[in-house]
Amino acid sequence: MTAHRFLPTGPLTGRIRVPGDKSISHRALMFTALAMGRSRIEGLLEGEDVLATAAALRMMGASIAQEGDAWVVDGVGVGGLLEPDGPLDMGNSGTSARLLMGLLASHGFTASMVGDASLSKRPMGRVTEPLSQMGASFQSAGNRLPIIIEGAHPAVPIEYRLPVASAQVKSAVLLAALNTPGTTRVIEPVPTRDHTERMLRGFGVDVAVSEQDGERLISITGPADLEPCDVVVPGDPSSAAFFAVAASVVPGSDLVIENVGLNPTRDGIYKVLEQMGANIEELDSREVGGEPVADLRVRHARLSGVEVDPALAPSMIDEFPVLFVAAALADGTTVTSRLEELRVKESDRLAAMATALSAIGASVEEREDGLVIQGSAGAPLAGGGPIATHLDHRIAMSMAIAGLVSRDGVAVDSVDPIATSFPNFMDLIDEAAR
Ligand code: S3P
Repeated sequence: MTAHRFLPTGPLTGRIRVPGDKSISHRALMFTALAMGRSRIEGLLEGEDVLATAAALRMMGASIAQEGDAWVVDGVGVGGLLEPDGPLDMGNSGTSARLLMGLLASHGFTASMVGDASLSKRPMGRVTEPLSQMGASFQSAGNRLPIIIEGAHPAVPIEYRLPVASAQVKSAVLLAALNTPGTTRVIEPVPTRDHTERMLRGFGVDVAVSEQDGERLISITGPADLEPCDVVVPGDPSSAAFFAVAASVVPGSDLVIENVGLNPTRDGIYKVLEQMGANIEELDSREVGGEPVADLRVRHARLSGVEVDPALAPSMIDEFPVLFVAAALADGTTVTSRLEELRVKESDRLAAMATALSAIGASVEEREDGLVIQGSAGAPLAGGGPIATHLDHRIAMSMAIAGLVSRDGVAVDSVDPIATSFPNFMDLIDEAAR
């Protein structure tokens, strides 16, 4: 574990570029691996989570190689994955585990999956339940990793209404559907990130999406073929959010974050920051790889506490830790609710952030389904630590941002988890604070 103390800094200025979107990078590798022939990916996030997906796909027959700044993938075709000759190591990555379980569910072989201590605590029943209905079987203790997956061939199509708002569950079922004869349908009462649907269309798959009584119906008829494709991955709005909050709270900052993906299923944090009074300007709005993208100019602003609309939660589900930091420095009170999902992320993010922010002098009340935070009205928090990051990259990065505006700095017990999603985070802080 590499401990580190993040010290107070002067203004964040200049232009930075955050790495590729994590969700899109996982899907880019999976879909190019399923296409028959050669594809190229530009802008892939080279973080540990995405590399875990690449390693697993290689073990199942895809060829994935780096060529300069791009990645070249020779896919095996839908249904063409091979039985791996050892356990698939998913590391810290819930997206790798859950989406690949979907793929494996409709391949007629057996595979096992392992993960790190954080991932081995996270619930997998939410995917094994629908995938079992499709014919796959799973062996595990309490629906946690390690898990043995016996795929079904042919699998059977299902209609499945998501009981939790989860793009991972939706995607697992849709990926299983690609190699399942007949029409599989997912009903989404609350919209979640739609990268799977958008990207599969780009690979030539007919993904039917309609709305009925406020719910989204998504269907795929299998077996489907994926055509090789050149993919460009936009910058990750979840990674950019750390710098949007940092530039908002560090006095004097004026920072441009280039190439930020702003898919409407992912941009909730920017809406909430604007409600709090943040000064965020979208420059050069454009489309990259079928996704809306802009450069964001963020200037320091006095933030005010808000009551966060729970309906926005799916579009900012990974950004609450850093929002809590913004709230701890704002004027007045921020109230969040209906965030039970945060308890089953890489860590229990409600408990982890309540403990971490309290330890550095913030005033936080932890409720069952959210945090209530009294802001410091712009005054630096005392700081302290070392903060327990619980193998959770977003806890480490959020507390790093808190350190930038603290009196004594904020120490975290480990910066190692940051490499799962944002390998050059520390370099970019130094670059922007120079
Ligand atoms: C992801 C979906 C989200 C998110 C995760 C990535 C994805 O999880 O938290 O970091 O790529 O589909 P849920 O869909 O389970 O909320």
